[in-house]
Amino acid sequence: MTFFNLKEILSAKQISDRVIELAKKIDEDFAGQHIVLLCILKGSFVFIADLARAITVPVTIDFLGVQSYNGDTKSSGVVQITQDLTTSITDRHVIIVEDIVDTGLTIHYLINMLLTRNPKTLKICSLLYKPSKVIKPVDIDYIGFTINDLFVVGYGLDYKQYYRNFPGINILEKEENDSI
Ligand code: IMP
Repeated sequence: MTFFNLKEILSAKQISDRVIELAKKIDEDFAGQHIVLLCILKGSFVFIADLARAITVPVTIDFLGVQSYNGDTKSSGVVQITQDLTTSITDRHVIIVEDIVDTGLTIHYLINMLLTRNPKTLKICSLLYKPSKVIKPVDIDYIGFTINDLFVVGYGLDYKQYYRNFPGINILEKEENDSI
């Protein structure tokens, strides 16, 4: 495994400020309602932890395991469900919480799959959005940051499963010499 030097493009503070704004908007849109937040594993686990704690309307949280990248920097285009929800979303207000929408293939697949379960409403919240890479356009209701066509890691996002624990969003820079 080759490791890279990272260059931060969004700091933990910038992210937490934006997460609070997103949570306020969700609170306003769902005032008086209950919502289900769907954590799309693995990349969304950090984002949803912060978002859920900033939301004040009643929420439940469920987890959906999805794999689309085969661990590299290019989408495989094939979406595989690795873990299904454990609760029903029928007749519930549901928000899919994603780390990033890149080609849109994953979110497009998830929307179609989840709509067959008849939620009352289905919204999308993504921390990051890369419009230049979209193959399947999708309306995203809540977007944290729009970014250029860069491969990013940190705040839950990985490269070959590493770097998820970095507090900001970073790009991979030149290689650091070594491997494990
Ligand atoms: P899409 O299907 O191409 O929209 O990709 C969605 C998934 O690919 C995301 O949920 C991420 O897990 C992964 N992904 C896309 N772009 C990046 C990136 O820049 N860094 C890390 N993971 C990414």
